[in-house]
Amino acid sequence: MAADLNQTTSDPPFDVWHSVEDAYWSAFRTLPKDRWDFITGAAGHEHTARANEHALAEIALLPRTLAGAADPDTSTTLLCSDTALPVAVAPMAYHQLAHPDGELATARAAKAAGVPFTVPTLSGHTVEELAAVGGECWFQLYPQPDKGIEAELIARAEAAGCTALMVTVDVPIMGRRLRDLRNDFRLPPEITNAHLPGEDTGGSAPTSHTTDVVDARFDWVGLGTIRDRTALPLVIKGVLSAVDADRAVSLGVDGVIVSNHGGRQLDGVPPAVAALPAVVDAVDGRVPVLFDSGIRSGIDILRALALGAQGVLVGRPVLWALAARGEPGVAELFSLLRTELASAMTIAGCRDIPTARSLRTTRTRR
Ligand code: FNR
Repeated sequence: MAADLNQTTSDPPFDVWHSVEDAYWSAFRTLPKDRWDFITGAAGHEHTARANEHALAEIALLPRTLAGAADPDTSTTLLCSDTALPVAVAPMAYHQLAHPDGELATARAAKAAGVPFTVPTLSGHTVEELAAVGGECWFQLYPQPDKGIEAELIARAEAAGCTALMVTVDVPIMGRRLRDLRNDFRLPPEITNAHLPGEDTGGSAPTSHTTDVVDARFDWVGLGTIRDRTALPLVIKGVLSAVDADRAVSLGVDGVIVSNHGGRQLDGVPPAVAALPAVVDAVDGRVPVLFDSGIRSGIDILRALALGAQGVLVGRPVLWALAARGEPGVAELFSLLRTELASAMTIAGCRDIPTARSLRTTRTRR
């Protein structure tokens, strides 16, 4: 987003956010540099992170005319959850880096907006506290080196009432995030992990503690074990290859999330949207395909739907909104995305989400 901002924005600050870029600037002005860099930065030289946004911008939508699509219905089903929008909150570590109310504030705003909240393994609040907020709740699991802890986390997510288990498969180790390395970024001591209290995460660098809390040897056998362990809908997050998507579906997953982790893992992988059509083809309607990495507007949401996604996860924009304005900021972000999506659907001639998913697209070169 940073690369193109000057072309489209007026001077900050903004009383009302008319685009995600406005929230971006509001957060930029609020956050200390090292936290801003951790949230906004990506791996390596951030080519992939920039490409995520640029590749989405190159997807052009072919509107249907005379469709009478005033007041479109943006509600849908994501995985097994009924939602007001084809949007869920992406799992993101430590929302308290953005705002002291942390994940609780995000979960409350998501509930009010009718949007599922994904509880991250690396959370400052427990899955029990976050599920008690009462909205639709999914649990993101980093495969654990200690399989006893892994089983316990899954059982806790089930008991708390989470309605999906999302296993992140693109982090055997953390990507090399140059901004964090240069800043020697560390979690402040007051931010600790609520799910893995034995881990001394407070005061540590995320790169080193991720090594302790993620199983770098996790493989298809490990995924099969998780499949056998839970009756929850199981989704894998971080797929870019059609072959992997096909194998995961054959193994019994209930959903696939096309994602490159917002460019935070391997700089040099394709922009996530470039991988979406082949994964949708390979999955061939057997399970839903969700998408994230680079969604910055309602039009981007419509683009992902038109390419066959059931819906999208939104990452950094949620933390920008949270950083700038706390829970009301996240509520404002969802309201903005709803307004943008509804506007785009009306103009593109889509009365509802199934129609949006049948829109045709072309690619442009800017
Ligand atoms: C993430 N992401 C992430 N993913 C995950 O599965 N577990 C995690 O703990 C985290 N942590 C995390 C922290 C921060 C600060 C960010 C920005 C992202 C990745 C996230 O779920 C999602 O894939 C990307 O953020 C999507 O890209 P955008 O929307 O940020 O461009």
